[in-house]
Amino acid sequence: MIKKILFACLILSSNLYGQKFQDLALTPPMGWNSWNHFECDDVNEKVIMDMADAMVSSGMKDAGYEYINIDDCWQVGRDAKGKIIVDSIKFPNGIKHLSDYIHSKGLKFGLYSDAGTHTCGGRPGSKNYEKQDAESYAEWAVDYLKYDWCNTEGQEPIESYTLMRDELYKAGYPIVFSICDWGASETWKWASDVGHLWRTTLDIADRWDGTRWGNQLGWVNILELQVGLEKYAGPGHWNDPDMLEVGNKGLSINEARAHFTMWCVLAAPLITGNDLSNMSKEIKEILTNKELIAINQDALGKQGFKIYDEGNFEIWQKPLSNGDMAICFLNLESEDKDFTVHWGKINIKDYTGTYKVQNLWKNKKTKDTNETFSLKIPARDVVIFKLHQ
Ligand code: GLA
Repeated sequence: MIKKILFACLILSSNLYGQKFQDLALTPPMGWNSWNHFECDDVNEKVIMDMADAMVSSGMKDAGYEYINIDDCWQVGRDAKGKIIVDSIKFPNGIKHLSDYIHSKGLKFGLYSDAGTHTCGGRPGSKNYEKQDAESYAEWAVDYLKYDWCNTEGQEPIESYTLMRDELYKAGYPIVFSICDWGASETWKWASDVGHLWRTTLDIADRWDGTRWGNQLGWVNILELQVGLEKYAGPGHWNDPDMLEVGNKGLSINEARAHFTMWCVLAAPLITGNDLSNMSKEIKEILTNKELIAINQDALGKQGFKIYDEGNFEIWQKPLSNGDMAICFLNLESEDKDFTVHWGKINIKDYTGTYKVQNLWKNKKTKDTNETFSLKIPARDVVIFKLHQ
């Protein structure tokens, strides 16, 4: 009898551990991460505090962004007991100080580590120190952990990520767990019970398409790699096509708008990667657009999918709550595209009856779906509509 009670308590407590973590990402996480703009050399305490300030003053917080995440290069070694040592040149007041500052702004705080011996930037990884690191994160009130996959020779992703998940559970502080093995293990097939989001590809480059250094891809290449992954995403578990490059120097305004729109359609985590303290009006308008963010954050949690493709011109659909849907026309050409929209003939899934139509970037109602019309989609840009009944 006592054994049975103990067993029941064990099951209950492990469920309770898990429960704290289950509801942390019911919609795709929104925030900012240091890597895309500041990389290793330029990240430090002042930058992180400035970004937290700017997230509030720019209106990003009001638009729904909440995480301020430090990526690689905050750590330098381990002490005699194995506790991770913070880079005291970059972060002279330690991590808890920053975490407190970020929380005092009503924001949440994220950190980065790696499942292997070293991070991709050559800093100490968490291998063999998972428990200690999870306890440090809990002590520092870390709300989000991105966990990378460099220097993991001989390790098995499911095992390594599950090990860290369990240590995070045991440490007991609710934390979003972001898996980053670049989709190498077809991560979407196993990760939904282990993490809240998982990278699906190599790193994003600050460019429209093509590659950089062989391991970075333009966002258009990344977009094409998301086709077919939609069935793996849903509330609490998201495909992660990598952080946004909107506001960095490689994309023009229309290219940045198209990138942001497609990440909204994909129900991708909206983790910005620009300098929030130095944003143009146009970039701020893109990143804080309420209509687009509502598409990304829709409670149904469906990832969008491609319904039409003629090479450099594509149509994507994202199902929304209440039978509504977003339909996005993406022009990948360097010239404007004219297209006649017959709503009933473009292969929209679960299309029934007549819908009212709203052009989301213009925030304008247009003709309903009974009417055919000619649409001009500017070069390397999008036009996205919400259809509602
Ligand atoms: C890997 C990740 C990136 C970034 C760097 C940091 O390349 O995929 O997102 O975290 O490591 O070194």
